Amino acid sequence: MFHASIEPLLEPFCHWQRGVWRSSTGPHFDVFNPATGALLATVADQGAAVAKAAITHAHAALPAWQAKSAKERSALLRRWFELIMEHQEPLALLMTLEQGKPLAEARGEVVYGASYVEWFAEETKRLYGDILPAASGDRRLLTIKQGIGVVAAITPWNFPSAMITRKVAPALGAGCTVVLKPSDETPLSALALVTLARQAGIPEAVFQIVTGKNAAAIGDLFCSDGRVRKLTFTGSTPVGKRLMAQCADTVKKMGLELGGNAPFIVFDDADIDAAIKGLMLSKFRNAGQTCICANRILVQAGIYDAFVAKLVAAVAQLKVAPGTEAGATIGPLVNGKAVEKVESLVADAIAKGASLLAGGERARAGKLFYQPTVLGEISRSMAIFDHEIFGPVAALMRFESEDEAIALANDTPFGLAAYFYSQNMGRIWRVAERLEYGMVGINEGGISSEVAPFGGVKESGLGREGSKYGLEEFTEIKYLCLGGLG
Ligand code: SIN
Repeated sequence: MFHASIEPLLEPFCHWQRGVWRSSTGPHFDVFNPATGALLATVADQGAAVAKAAITHAHAALPAWQAKSAKERSALLRRWFELIMEHQEPLALLMTLEQGKPLAEARGEVVYGASYVEWFAEETKRLYGDILPAASGDRRLLTIKQGIGVVAAITPWNFPSAMITRKVAPALGAGCTVVLKPSDETPLSALALVTLARQAGIPEAVFQIVTGKNAAAIGDLFCSDGRVRKLTFTGSTPVGKRLMAQCADTVKKMGLELGGNAPFIVFDDADIDAAIKGLMLSKFRNAGQTCICANRILVQAGIYDAFVAKLVAAVAQLKVAPGTEAGATIGPLVNGKAVEKVESLVADAIAKGASLLAGGERARAGKLFYQPTVLGEISRSMAIFDHEIFGPVAALMRFESEDEAIALANDTPFGLAAYFYSQNMGRIWRVAERLEYGMVGINEGGISSEVAPFGGVKESGLGREGSKYGLEEFTEIKYLCLGGLG
């Protein structure tokens, strides 16, 4: 039975009744399994009033949390990491049930998410300040880094675990308290992580969760409450822009991980097999529902036909099925709107001259499944060139020269991830430096790691998550001037 291993993780918030986890309190909303449409859970539908109370508790909890030594906070994070790893299997199963990704990917995400907690448990102990050479002998100048205060975090459904840990672990490590609003599509993984954080000994008021359908009301409150000193958000660019405007009134620090439109460039001098492998990883991970998925695949004319043939053969190996089924590699999309968006991008491309090389319609596995699809000869006038697909559609475009590839790649307001394949060292440096992106995969399709800074330029966001930089995002630098020493 699926629920037996999962139930203890949800018990503080839900109880198992007639085949469904039911919210323990008041108004609630439904969470469905996207693979089957079955009702999985009902979760507390909380709004701005609960969010405000959570901020009050988080604000009150700050002094005691900040008074803990870095070593003490590190030990609590380390314990949280260990508990996540001990519960890898039920967490993965829960994720597959509510989000749809294949179980193997869900297992991978649990480990990936946990790696941020482990990393920041370690980095927390290295939040160093500086001693600055003073201009006169009677002074000593120094800087210290302090946790910024109460942090509000809004996280998405596509990585229900890792996007939480990537924000919450550095915030807690830096000495901030956190109020988390997870996506209403995937609140169960978030609740399970909170349960484990509490079991690890992280105080309730230090890391709180607000679940609710009315994301706008909770978001408005996060933005307008002056006690929240940082808002960190992963989601769409339009929502990020709105939050940014709303945060202006209280001049909040912001972390924004927004949309992408990743180019994946394959030059004539590339190792084609390596490029196919990297593309399959980058394009079809999570059924194409990541912000760093290859969105526009630019292939140089000399290898275009050979590349297409290999890609179509690789795509034919993918298995579309519910994530709990053995061997599944492509799960459902998140909801009906996502499927309609993919359908309309594909239809627009075909109407404007793209060739359909594989797939191109809904899959039989269920209402929210879409066939892995390959489109050839896409062009600049097609909507698919400008819009994040967020589905399992590989859209290929032919180019002639390096300059043309760079111009096409940069012809977008987005700047999150880019990828290119080449074996020419001069070209590798030239192209890497000219791409206007926050992250560049060179002969590599899987670039995410807790040790690396994740984030974008242009309209893809502000700030970096993960790595040594990810901790600093949750701190303020304070300058101390120690005078009268002459
Ligand atoms: C995202 O899609 O925003 C996250 C992807 C990742 O962390 O690899």
